[in-house]
Amino acid sequence: MTEDVFKAQLNTSNFNDFKVGWRSPSNIALVKYWGKKPIQIPANASLSFTLSESCTSTEVQFSLADSPSFDLVFEGKAKPSFHPKIQDFLDRISPYCSFLGAYHLSIDTSNSFPHSSGIASSASAMAALALSICSLEKELGGLQDEGLFFQKASFLSRLGSGSACRSVQGPMMSWGVHPELNNSSDLYGSVFKEKLQDVFKSYKDSILLVHKGQKSVSSTAGHDLMKGHIFAQSRFEQAQIHLTQLKSVLQNGDLEHFIRIVESEALSLHAMMMSSHPYYILMQPNTLAILHSVMRFRQETKIPLCFTLDAGANVHLLYPESFERQILPFIEQELSLFCEHGAFLSDAVGNGSQKIV
Ligand code: DP6
Repeated sequence: MTEDVFKAQLNTSNFNDFKVGWRSPSNIALVKYWGKKPIQIPANASLSFTLSESCTSTEVQFSLADSPSFDLVFEGKAKPSFHPKIQDFLDRISPYCSFLGAYHLSIDTSNSFPHSSGIASSASAMAALALSICSLEKELGGLQDEGLFFQKASFLSRLGSGSACRSVQGPMMSWGVHPELNNSSDLYGSVFKEKLQDVFKSYKDSILLVHKGQKSVSSTAGHDLMKGHIFAQSRFEQAQIHLTQLKSVLQNGDLEHFIRIVESEALSLHAMMMSSHPYYILMQPNTLAILHSVMRFRQETKIPLCFTLDAGANVHLLYPESFERQILPFIEQELSLFCEHGAFLSDAVGNGSQKIV
């Protein structure tokens, strides 16, 4: 499949004002995307749990206009600092959505998680906006096939932020060509359609907010530092192998192996940051304190609690729902001491984006 399939051909006589809204979740990668080629093509395949609680809700009023433009309200207030990112996104998707040239977009958006929690909102935000644009295309007569609708929404999301293409559907999505994933593509994310043990369908993710501030190096800059990185090729191969192994684990429910893959992915991601030029460290002392505590807790209790990290200091704790009663007191009484103001979020695997307007 080439990108041309996503170029909209619409009858301009159908153009009308239109309002729509989507609620899109964040996602947490088990096998990480780290390193890319232009434009937003991943260096290796990745696989994530779609979350259910950490979401962006976006409503868009599309009004016919002489020239394309937009305004944006974030949590009730104008947010000019978001404009460059949205403008770049709209420019990047314009070859595939030429109909947008006839519209002014009034974008009203908010997150379910507290602002500046250090939770990356670009995945959920880009997915909710891309889905809203696809709803307009559908209203104008395109994207009548549901499969194509979600594929294009994921394709557009990817152009906004790579990991966003895995926030469109659930409970798990992959992105990037992998020999063992049917129909996998570099252009868009796909629902993980292999057999999935029930335990993973209700997996919990407690997100420990270690550091709520802005991180020192953005993901985009981090991806860039994989160019010419001395370990890059080995890292991309490691991710492909981990995905092959994880596919079996998701089928057979071997939680010990699941933990080994997921924690290794998290630490490899941060090892890439620490061995790039320039090198940098996004983990904080409290991040490490939590990782040690989790490993000790697991050893002492044999409870299959594991950690993963995204490109920041916060820690995602992944565990089967059946162990929640034992794990929550451990988080509340011990791990929350390492969190800023004791804060953590309770999330779980979810089913993907929902139309809200
Ligand atoms: C560590 O998707 O935020 O979370 O494509 O530049 O927007 P851009 O990067 P982004 O990178 C996410 C990196 C990660 C791993 C992952 O989600 O796979």
